[in-house]
Amino acid sequence: MGKTIAVIGGTGLCDWPGAEVLEETALETPYGVPSALVQRIRYESAEFLFLARHGHGHEIPPHAINYRANIAALQQAGVDALIAVNAVGGISERFVAGVITIPDQINDYTWGRQHTFFDGNNGKVEHIDFSFPYSQDLRSRLANAAVDANIAIEDYGVYAVTQGPRLETAAEIRRLARDGNDIVGMTAMPEAALAREAGIDYASISLVVNPGAGLSDNLITIEDIRAVIDTGMVQVKSILARCIAE
Ligand code: HPA
Repeated sequence: MGKTIAVIGGTGLCDWPGAEVLEETALETPYGVPSALVQRIRYESAEFLFLARHGHGHEIPPHAINYRANIAALQQAGVDALIAVNAVGGISERFVAGVITIPDQINDYTWGRQHTFFDGNNGKVEHIDFSFPYSQDLRSRLANAAVDANIAIEDYGVYAVTQGPRLETAAEIRRLARDGNDIVGMTAMPEAALAREAGIDYASISLVVNPGAGLSDNLITIEDIRAVIDTGMVQVKSILARCIAE
């Protein structure tokens, strides 16, 4: 790809089964330490950096992640292209459990997170353009890799980012639907905006792991989510490996 590429793995991808870990580095940033050691890994013919967003034991909840430290650490490591992996709930019709999507827009409903490098404390005030939060170039590469791997994806989607860690009420999901959201998760922000502030190209590959609250006859259970993750993440890994190896 000609770039230093990293993957941030989320729920269901806290480490990378089948990968060879070539190197692990403990990084420190002015914002604190990242969620985990930054690993350089090899998987199939792809070599890239990997960071576990929630820690390797999935011990950091979405609202408590030090997003600034994570992005600053990857920037220090020379990363200029970053692919986020997100497990999400589905809202609009096409986004049923098991669907893989490359979202193209974001609505941010989070609050109280340390969400910017331009907080006035370092003498820099900048207002980044964020009209299109995801890199179109990286999105196309992911979509092409999915075609090569013969894996069906949805090549669009508005990602609603909620605060968590609880899931939504049924009324909240109806409101998110009225707002034009297709999927809902807890971690795309402030990660995407910080990547833009840091000058890092950013895209997401998101796996729908459950229907949004109130959209199915059943309550959402971790067992159901796990079952989708087990098969879906194998496909996500395969798309990523092709995308990065190209
Ligand atoms: N809501 C918010 N975040 C999520 C969900 C959901 O239904 N599923 C996985 N992450």
